Amino acid sequence: MARKIIIDTDPGQDDAVAILLALASPEIEVLGLTAVAGNVPLHHTQRNALVLCELAGRPDLPVYAGAEAPLSRPLVTAEHVHGKTGLDGVTLPDPTMALTPGHAVDFLIETLRREPAGTVTLVPIGPLTNIAMAFQRAPDIIPRVQEIVLMGGAYFEVGNITPTAEFNIYVDPEAASLVFAAGAPLTVMPLDVTHKALTSRPWVEQMRAMGRIGQAIASWTDFFERYDREKYGSEGAPLHDPCTIAWLLAPQLFSGRFINVEIETRGEFTLGMTVADWWRVSGRTPNATFIRDVDVKGLFELLTRRIGELDRRLG
Ligand code: BDR
Ligand code: CA
Repeated sequence: MARKIIIDTDPGQDDAVAILLALASPEIEVLGLTAVAGNVPLHHTQRNALVLCELAGRPDLPVYAGAEAPLSRPLVTAEHVHGKTGLDGVTLPDPTMALTPGHAVDFLIETLRREPAGTVTLVPIGPLTNIAMAFQRAPDIIPRVQEIVLMGGAYFEVGNITPTAEFNIYVDPEAASLVFAAGAPLTVMPLDVTHKALTSRPWVEQMRAMGRIGQAIASWTDFFERYDREKYGSEGAPLHDPCTIAWLLAPQLFSGRFINVEIETRGEFTLGMTVADWWRVSGRTPNATFIRDVDVKGLFELLTRRIGELDRRLG
């Protein structure tokens, strides 16, 4: 039976690849997408989620709009990385499908209450506002979550939006703190692993030679890559968010440790830091599987195979 997931997202070129990988994979049943403000404001992320469903030939998929701003702070966005729309790099047609009426948080709560306990996995790949709101409003859903597999945080790589914080956690540290403390099984893809998931030129060209999905991914990567090339001097774009879906499909590609991770919500210089007890020195109870390594070749082979299959299916 396919694994049921809800992707909570702020697309984002790398979110787009994650969503497409999930929709390309028969082992996964996407119950819906919930949009959150993050990389760009909500009106862009919700539109992008619709555009991506149509690109993947899935206009039937429910897409809900969620939180417009973090729990208790003004929104910080990342147009300097993702462009004005969040999906800069390729122009896709306006969506013809509409948002599903209702709020993302209600969808999360209703779905987790309706589906048998322990059968729905949450995949947050943006700030954790929607998930935290759902947990706050309906704590009864927390023990019903099969697992949370999220992209966020860093330990060895420390930060990308500030010297000590990763973007998704930094944007809504209060939400992250709530989710990390909730007690649901948690797997975290921090920058430590996602900065290893770098696209290569030959891979991008292989994508470009595919159908319209591969071509879109190649164009997004071209756009997204320039930022990391200028900042880190690295060849290639980090596919942060696809690591979550890849982990669901092929966990043997990844390795990490089950450790305690706390979120800094008050630090003057360290707001949004994921204080990861990698060396197990704090005595605090472990709450997250914190991933550090990935078989990069295996990851990109998986992506190539699945995107190729989706492109062939769409003709
Ligand atoms: C995370 O922030 C966003 O820029 C990406 O989409 C990813 O989810 C990386 O820090
Ligand atoms: Ca994202």
